[in-house]
Amino acid sequence: MSQTQHPTSPQEGEFTAAIASRMQPLYERVKTVIPPVEWPAFAPDIDAILRLKKERNAVILAHNYQTPEIFHCVADIVGDSLALAREAAETDAECIVLCGVHFMAETAKILCPEKTVLIPDMDAGCSLADSITGADIRLMRERYPGVPVVTYVNTSAEVKAESDVCCTSGNAVAVVESLGTDRVLFLPDEYLANYVAGQTNVEVIAWHGHCEVHERFTPEEIGAYRKGVEGLVVIAHPECPPDVLDAADFVGSTAQMINHVKTERPGRVLLLTECSMSDNVAAEVPDVEFVRPCNLCPHMKRITLPKIRHALETMSHEIKVDPAIAAPARRAVERMLEIR
Ligand code: 13P
Ligand code: SF4
Repeated sequence: MSQTQHPTSPQEGEFTAAIASRMQPLYERVKTVIPPVEWPAFAPDIDAILRLKKERNAVILAHNYQTPEIFHCVADIVGDSLALAREAAETDAECIVLCGVHFMAETAKILCPEKTVLIPDMDAGCSLADSITGADIRLMRERYPGVPVVTYVNTSAEVKAESDVCCTSGNAVAVVESLGTDRVLFLPDEYLANYVAGQTNVEVIAWHGHCEVHERFTPEEIGAYRKGVEGLVVIAHPECPPDVLDAADFVGSTAQMINHVKTERPGRVLLLTECSMSDNVAAEVPDVEFVRPCNLCPHMKRITLPKIRHALETMSHEIKVDPAIAAPARRAVERMLEIR
């Protein structure tokens, strides 16, 4: 028998007894949302990623829409877009692996130009980020001279660079009111703009971008669930259409939605957002029953454990931002981060 075929050498991806034992404490965190039969497919990659993170002095930032084996088992920091931007700005690690979509990784690179920022799949995009370009912002400025431009972080670096200040769904109203003007351009999410307009006296001029995940929820769907599930509490993300928000009991960013569930502990809850978020919260609050009509974000779902492992093994795919774009984009993001 050759040395490479030695019977005790584990093959890549093999669920050995040693891996099973090392990974058991992590399985305890996710056992209510990942069936035992699926765990052997995840554990070897998790084990390898934890080792690679140390070797590379890397930190994994994961959005609330990442799947439970990423969110609960390999991420160092989890959160909404605002939290991920704040944490990226503060980490001491040399390398950031952003488990989320491209604009999130780009925001991290804008804030930390000296760090290596990796995204496990370069094609993890966003329908909102794709709905507007830097040239569109310049046209809007011509049409509304002197009106400040607030852009949602779900945009490219080029768009951020053309903006006065960025915002997320967690701080949009505070950012709009911080400008001290009667009118703002709020781009590109029309539904978030509409929601913000309802919370402030500032006139909000919107763009026509939509999130392909949240725009699919309907008030009819909520009505049907309320009829079928007694005492249901409905919590919605402000990227949902206005009639859906009107039919919800609480509206907030992904972090605010999670916080609401953890503090209010409703008996039965429906989270109108991306599917994985219910799984991630359910793993932490077993006493809450989650009703799960959800919509998948195909971009978020491009990030998987094998791709994270590959990213750390090969130090790819590295996010690069042209310094001439990064400097004005950073001003817009940092201005947002100064608003508490
Ligand atoms: P937040 O996590 O900032 O609420 O954003 C939701 C979202 O759709 C991100 O892509
Ligand atoms: Fe973009 Fe919507 Fe996916 Fe978030 S959920 S990344 S806003 S497409």
